[in-house]
Amino acid sequence: MMAMDKFLKSLFRVKSIERYQKESQESGLRRALGRWALVSLGIGAIIGGGIFTLTGVAAKNYAGPALAVSFLIAGVACLLAALAYAEFASIVPVEGSAYAYSYATVGELIAWFIGWNLILEYMMGATTVAVAWSGYFEKLLHLFGLSIPKYLTIDPFTYAKLPTDQRTASFAFNLPGFLIAWVVTAILLKGIKEAASTNNLIVALKVGAVLFVIIAGAFFINPDNWHPFIPEPVLDKEGNIHYGWPGIFTAATIVFFAYIGFDAVSTQAGEAINPRKDVPFAIVASLLITTLLYIGVSVVLTGMVSYKELDERAPVASAFAGAGVKWATYIITIAATAGLISVMMVMLLGQTRVFLAMAKDGLLPKSVFGYIHPVYKTPFRSTLLVGAIMSVVAGLVPIANVSELTSLGTLLAFTLVSLSVFILRLRRPDLERPYKVPLWPLVSLGGVAVNVFLIAQARKENLRAFAIWAVMGMIVYFAYSYHRSALARRNREEGCP
Ligand code: ALA
Repeated sequence: MMAMDKFLKSLFRVKSIERYQKESQESGLRRALGRWALVSLGIGAIIGGGIFTLTGVAAKNYAGPALAVSFLIAGVACLLAALAYAEFASIVPVEGSAYAYSYATVGELIAWFIGWNLILEYMMGATTVAVAWSGYFEKLLHLFGLSIPKYLTIDPFTYAKLPTDQRTASFAFNLPGFLIAWVVTAILLKGIKEAASTNNLIVALKVGAVLFVIIAGAFFINPDNWHPFIPEPVLDKEGNIHYGWPGIFTAATIVFFAYIGFDAVSTQAGEAINPRKDVPFAIVASLLITTLLYIGVSVVLTGMVSYKELDERAPVASAFAGAGVKWATYIITIAATAGLISVMMVMLLGQTRVFLAMAKDGLLPKSVFGYIHPVYKTPFRSTLLVGAIMSVVAGLVPIANVSELTSLGTLLAFTLVSLSVFILRLRRPDLERPYKVPLWPLVSLGGVAVNVFLIAQARKENLRAFAIWAVMGMIVYFAYSYHRSALARRNREEGCP
């Protein structure tokens, strides 16, 4: 009985905030990021394929002209989580992000689970983006009259399903997806400064393209397209509701993906010059800026084309082509192709920083995940390993449809961070909080409720895949991490459970 009690207690051992605060002063990484570089990294991670593609399906099949409302709902859901991230980042500015925040509040097992889930968000997310990038790159080549053989643009499994007359080779490999993973990895290996300047360039390009869509598109709006703003709900044969308020909510869960990335700013705390102030600011600012841009694009897009006629694959580019502005397709495709590179970059950056935090705590092998290059000051081996996995998976696996798993991993992290902020306020009201979630506990608990609601909207097969992933994580934890925990060792030395 005693042994059982001790074991259960050990699963929820908590790493103290004070220890985190001490560690945050010696991150080992190069502190090179100022306030606006962090905001730019946030925008770099957020604006990507989501706004240029998901808007089509979301408006055409679910929200109609009320797409902007769906973006607003998803934006508010993210804002609740962003405020929680901001409070935590101001207390414990460490690179572990959601993983570290849960370790400091709900204990090791849940922290591990969150760290494990962040792999879904960051590594899996970056890999899906690499595959999506390959698609955009192919489109870009087409615009310039160039093409690559089909067998070099898709994974072997998808290739095998093509009709025989389209299969000209006995093998297939997504070469652009593979190569872009290495380009991103190379930039990250070199250093945080190089990564930040590449990101700034890309952000300028994609924000420019989004502003172009809003401003140029405004001239082609036909207000009739906005009527009715919320089309009457329609029930399909499978029992799904399209349009009306239920449709608006479904569309919100679809476009949620377009916001993923702002939380990655919190993983850069170890590289920020003034993390306790600038990281919270950057998380909230990058999210607010992109929310405004997304709402602008939605209003314009649904005003340019009737929602019924929106293209599902490339809605924004097609809307301009339909309005006779064919050259806009070039701007949008170039911006999307370049834009996805920074999404991958920040996600990969996030992944290696979370691994670094877990390695420092002994939960992952330090020699690989905790090794920092003496000159570049980057987690060198970890970046190489993650880049290698990402490139091979992007080249060989049909991963394009797992973006929902990325969203699920993210939503769970958002839920736990919102919950942890709530718990920490109760447990440690004494802590200095340079940034505080407003309207407590409404915002924290609201964050939990909204994110759980969005998780509940997921399709059953994805929830199943998610459960399998969780079980795998538990196996790794009990086989390796539980026994190697640095906190457990310290506790033993100090005679605690
Ligand atoms: N928010 C990122 C995108 O839309 C993941 O591509």
